[in-house]
Amino acid sequence: VDKYAVIGNPIAHSKSPLIHADFAQQTAQAMTYEAILAPVDSFDATVKELMASDYKGLNVTVPFKFEAYKICDSLSVRAQSSGAGAVNTLINSHGKIHGDNTDGAGLRRDIELNLGFAIEGKEVLILGAGGAAHGVLNSLAGAKQITVANRNLDKALQLAASITNGSACAFDALDKPYDLIINATSAGLTDSMLPISDAIFSKNTLAYDMMYGRETPFMAQARRNGAQVADGLGMLVEQAAEAFYLWRGVRPNTKPVMDKIRALAT
Ligand code: ATR
Repeated sequence: VDKYAVIGNPIAHSKSPLIHADFAQQTAQAMTYEAILAPVDSFDATVKELMASDYKGLNVTVPFKFEAYKICDSLSVRAQSSGAGAVNTLINSHGKIHGDNTDGAGLRRDIELNLGFAIEGKEVLILGAGGAAHGVLNSLAGAKQITVANRNLDKALQLAASITNGSACAFDALDKPYDLIINATSAGLTDSMLPISDAIFSKNTLAYDMMYGRETPFMAQARRNGAQVADGLGMLVEQAAEAFYLWRGVRPNTKPVMDKIRALAT
């Protein structure tokens, strides 16, 4: 039986064990998947210990994704090219640590496959320019134009400069509708309103919040303005499926797990 785990701090709330247990059952994989709490100052030692005890792979969550990037012996192309310097998936490759980041792919699969929204040729707006925004920017390839808006304009300018079809602006300069709006700020955690105009939403807009588990002020505003609204639960399950695929070589069905987690929440 192959061993896997997710490492974070805190970790008790993590849905990853439930998700991976479901995937393993669906695809008949002989594996275990635990949640492991690492002390904030000994992520490195915890990972090395687990790898030495023959864990085949690890998922990494808050606050360790940046540290995880640094301890890898090798990195996937997408982990290298996302400007985030963060990984969420580790693979034990004969004792060496290989790092990947499945967050961007998870977001794209959720938007395109689950929500049926094609990114190609679309006007995209990203709200936020922190780690979450960096991590998913590359997965939006094919968009016509990507606008990055952030409270701190310098960070938006920097992020937008990393892609050829990017531009940056302040929240209060946004005044026209976008096809796809992704909230990658952490404002929803504190129920903070973003100072954004109703004019950025239309009936044809997909408003996607990378957070899940609650209706954020962003989602409520988008709904009031007739947009299609999605939270980040699909992304959570899809990034897990992508990690599972890297480890086991099989793609699990994500829909039943998404339904299961939604049912638990209500
Ligand atoms: P994460 O990894 O979640 O992206 P982060 O790197 O700290 O965390 O980035 C948080 C993002 O949310 C930033 O874009 C931040 O804006 P600033 O760069 O201006 O700080 C944004 N953010 C957090 N709280 C916010 C709020 N109340 N209003 C607007 N933006 C907010």
